[in-house]
Amino acid sequence: MREEQITALVQDMTLAEKIGQMVQLEGNFFYKEQQGVVTGPASEEEIADEVKAVTGSVLNVYGAEKLIAIQREFMKKQPHHIPLLFMFDVIHGFKTIFPAPLGLGAAFEPELAKECAGVAAKEASASGLHVVFSPMVDLVRDARWGRVVESTGEDPYLNGLYAAAQVEGFQGENPGEEGKICACIKHFAGYGAPVAGRDYNTVELSERTFREYYLAAYQKGIAAGTGMVMTSFNTVNGIPASVNRRLMQDILRNEMGFDGVLISDYEAIRETISHGYSENEEKAAQNAVTAGVDIDMMSYCYSNNLMKLVKTGKIREEQIDECVLRILRLKNKLGLFEKPYKDADPEQERKLHLCEDHRKLARTAAEKSFVLLKNDKILPLDTAKKIAFIGPYTEEKHMLSSWALSGDYRDTVTIREAAEKMMPDSELYFCNGSPILTPGYRLPGFEKNAPESQRCWSQEEAKELLDKAVQLAKQADTIIMPLGEHFLQSGEAASRSELDIPEVQMELFREVVRVNPNVIVLVFSGRPLDLREVSEKAKAVLEVWFPGSEGGAAIMNVLTGAVNPSGKLPMSFPYSIGQVPVYYNEYSTGRPYYTNSKERFQSRYIDIPNEPLYPFGYGLSYTKFQISPVHLDKKTITGDETLCASVTIENTGDYAGTETLQLYIRDLYASVVRPVKELKGFRKVYLSPGEKQVVTFTITEKMLHFLRADGTWGSEPGTFHVWIGNSSACGEGSEFVLY
Ligand code: BGC
Repeated sequence: MREEQITALVQDMTLAEKIGQMVQLEGNFFYKEQQGVVTGPASEEEIADEVKAVTGSVLNVYGAEKLIAIQREFMKKQPHHIPLLFMFDVIHGFKTIFPAPLGLGAAFEPELAKECAGVAAKEASASGLHVVFSPMVDLVRDARWGRVVESTGEDPYLNGLYAAAQVEGFQGENPGEEGKICACIKHFAGYGAPVAGRDYNTVELSERTFREYYLAAYQKGIAAGTGMVMTSFNTVNGIPASVNRRLMQDILRNEMGFDGVLISDYEAIRETISHGYSENEEKAAQNAVTAGVDIDMMSYCYSNNLMKLVKTGKIREEQIDECVLRILRLKNKLGLFEKPYKDADPEQERKLHLCEDHRKLARTAAEKSFVLLKNDKILPLDTAKKIAFIGPYTEEKHMLSSWALSGDYRDTVTIREAAEKMMPDSELYFCNGSPILTPGYRLPGFEKNAPESQRCWSQEEAKELLDKAVQLAKQADTIIMPLGEHFLQSGEAASRSELDIPEVQMELFREVVRVNPNVIVLVFSGRPLDLREVSEKAKAVLEVWFPGSEGGAAIMNVLTGAVNPSGKLPMSFPYSIGQVPVYYNEYSTGRPYYTNSKERFQSRYIDIPNEPLYPFGYGLSYTKFQISPVHLDKKTITGDETLCASVTIENTGDYAGTETLQLYIRDLYASVVRPVKELKGFRKVYLSPGEKQVVTFTITEKMLHFLRADGTWGSEPGTFHVWIGNSSACGEGSEFVLY
């Protein structure tokens, strides 16, 4: 359709029909089966049949045959035969599940995330979907918040690269192309900083922190052309984001130049009443339309109030027209007026879903996401030894994460399956050792339809498992302990006040190390955990996040050394929960503490170190890398010059491997204080044993930009410190001056 035809169509639509475009409903209103996760109320009674007949979009239903049938029936009755948009949460894969986003972030490889998003787009579009509620680009610093699992971490630069890469992966050149899908970055804005890590809680960010850290990745996703943006549940400067005019109009539309479709989060428009901002649903609808929110996801505020608001002159019909125009443009961009089923095709579903190529990518992505936190000469495994796998993730298929809604855990390769297949000649033993959750512990809100792994175990059952495990531990040479959080302990509405591995597993761990110290721990988690005890007592620790469909195979490839681990932490792992939020790019203080200082009045804890247990950017390899001091090709530059910072990196160990060199800069004095380090670039380098390479980063004046005291973006002359190292804790650096 041409633009004039879309405008003409809007003019020809009745007001009721136009309002319908701005309403999004649950799939089960159209098809009697729930497929997604309903995170708010979803009662059909609140919605009139006339509204349903002209609805613009649907969430939480997928499947080629189903969506073709819904679309066919719907369009017959829609007065202008306008097709529905089908949307779904495709967070880290559709049927083939990749590692959870925090794990993808640990790969330090946005191109890999782009490839994964491309595969997810192919699989999801074959199942009839048009929009994915992804990527989530919220910056996260507080491991208590359950949704850190959906983010790529604490760094605005890294998150920005991932945001753009994923948008490009989903949408390609044009989301209307076959196998492509429209992206929707979320949650705009600041949702990643709920006070005390409690989901949906108030967000308190200074304008500077909000803009410099939190808005950066959204901006990159918008620049990459995301077709949609989703609002967030929190308030921004005291006004709920979903009705925040300054945020949506001034910042999102005007400053960031977003001209696509803005959708509310689930029920978020109505929730502005509970926030104490909108007095009633009518006011909530008026506020949201005024802020420029085009689609109301499941709060019925638009469907039940917009007509009245226009009739009483509280909203101008042109405001509605603007929203509808944006929605119809998106439908047009997706080619739905010509091909209302787009790529929905049962044949393609069968061909694509979980096909060997997709599984292979899931395996590679998982391998690259694992972070080796400790290795006391025990890995890679000596396969000639007697190896026992002891821990509740040994045979567990639930390793997809709580946001893999369309994935089927039964398609997952377990550790045991992979080990038996890959090590047919080794002497292997397997036992679960404990349940995942401590007996008596129930995950609130998940009582119904709890999976087997989440059922409540009795003390006796747990004791029996433990006794068996200890016997086995005594006989083995090497023990691999797959431990960690339950997959429902992270995700939405899964904030935690403790960052521990469930106590029943820690008891198992203690008993096993007591009888046999040759223990390698695999940590499954959707967030940084407090790993002090595990790190102290185990000989090796490998963080594997929620690794996805090929989790077991990827784990075995890394344990056996077929693949050398190379992941780096995208979020600091705290020493203890008392440090949270702890992140590398903090400001200095007037009384900075230097390790081992005897001074009393310094910015420090008296009972724990200031440093996290494992900092941002940290991760080991089976081999050793030596990195030379930084060499700068000049000591001074002017604004239009560039500077080359280089190091020589050498693989001095016994295995081929990949190291991620990270470039950090500090602006020493400026009109506002600057972080002690900021990531400005990174490079993954693959080296064989004995191989060396010179790696050069080009520093430009643009890389030194920040939000200056006068509110403008730019650099300021002065001295800058430069580091190139293999984590944010890298020591020595060099300096240059910008004139
Ligand atoms: C979440 C969103 C999600 C939406 C639809 C909300 O509760 O915050 O991230 O896209 O539900 O499932």
